[in-house]
Amino acid sequence: MRLLVLGTGSMAKSQVSHFKLIEGVEVVGAVDTDPSRLAEFSDHFGIEKRFLAIEEAIAWGDFDAATNVTPDRIHHPTTMALIAAGKHVFCEKPLAENYADALEMTTAAETAGVINMVNLTYRNVAPLQRAREMVLAGELGTIKHVEASYLQSWLVSRAWGDWRTESRWLWRLSTGHGSNGVLGDVGIHILDFAAYGAATDIDHVFARLKTFNKAPGGQIGEYLLDANDSFTMSVDFANGALGVIHATRWATGHLNELKLRIYGERGSLEIIHRPNGSQLRGCFDENIETATWADIDVAPVPTNYQRFVEAVATGKQLDPNFRHAANLQKVIDLAIVSEKERRELNLLSEEVGMTPGPEGAGNVEVLPIAV
Ligand SMILES: NC(=O)c1ccc[n+]([C@@H]2O[C@H](COP(=O)([O-])OP(=O)(O)OC[C@H]3O[C@@H](n4cnc5c(N)ncnc54)[C@H](O)[C@@H]3O)[C@@H](O)[C@H]2O)c1
Repeated sequence: MRLLVLGTGSMAKSQVSHFKLIEGVEVVGAVDTDPSRLAEFSDHFGIEKRFLAIEEAIAWGDFDAATNVTPDRIHHPTTMALIAAGKHVFCEKPLAENYADALEMTTAAETAGVINMVNLTYRNVAPLQRAREMVLAGELGTIKHVEASYLQSWLVSRAWGDWRTESRWLWRLSTGHGSNGVLGDVGIHILDFAAYGAATDIDHVFARLKTFNKAPGGQIGEYLLDANDSFTMSVDFANGALGVIHATRWATGHLNELKLRIYGERGSLEIIHRPNGSQLRGCFDENIETATWADIDVAPVPTNYQRFVEAVATGKQLDPNFRHAANLQKVIDLAIVSEKERRELNLLSEEVGMTPGPEGAGNVEVLPIAV
């Protein structure tokens, strides 16, 4: 597979390091609007073909697939251009800034018949895959309650760099730069983690979002720091379970931690994923009486990168696809409306759209559902 890399920032480095290890993958070109990043990245990975715009790369055209690792706002226009050129697309999360755009990308990809996948990275966590298998096999019985959290601390630590001075963090804090805050950035991961692990879908949402003041006047240079940096959500799942899901960038002492607890009538599971590894524990059978938890061994699973390469090679679409990511985007859009209107929303009966306006992302409204 001849792969084009679109966007050469920090996540692209991680992605290309993985893609280059997969047999049959050749990274043949790179695109970035920033010439110095493009040069540094391409030199580092030995990539010959370099472009300052996606249009130039498409005009060249000598690639099968592209990985879109641009900032969230750029995903929609560039992915639409790649699909129109008949290229397979692996897109970073969140798929788009809003459900309407995400749905348009989904429809375009499905109509064109190109492989479309979204990098919901935590699908690579083996305990998550094992937990889902156990839920689907009925080992937990009926699921009643789900707890999920995604904790980061980059607003209170410099472990990953300084958000006050680095554009790669500042755009994530600003709706005007296409960010839906922690909700759009890592909220999409934890929504997927919770629903995928519990093997069900979210169908009702009530959310609270909060943006804390971080700089004088709430602004640093061109970046108005108005995107949410903490959220709490109560959800209903299609299987009848109730859930609480939350995420924050203010979790002092937690660099990057995902936790999922799934409680069933016959047993429970807990997954903890941190930068130094992940763990699956369970409480079953007679251990339920003493609330004793035991570690569960898990086998490694293929990564999203490997699955994308397999999908392109076989022509058979694999998960997580654009349609799934669009559905998660709908949860995000409705969470924003829920915060504004302080009411619970039903995913099955509400339709959401974007109103263009100066506030940028997050300018979401509930539209009457088409009948
Ligand atoms: N899956 C994950 O776990 C994960 C982790 C981190 C980031 N991400 C996602 O990856 C994407 C990129 O994040 P990042 O941290 O690498 O950001 P970044 O700011 O470090 O890099 C983005 C790069 O895209 C370039 N760019 C901007 N507009 C462009 C355009 N029109 N055409 C080509 N290049 C363009 C920028 O110059 C920059 O080099 C985001 O969508 C983010 O949400 C995903």
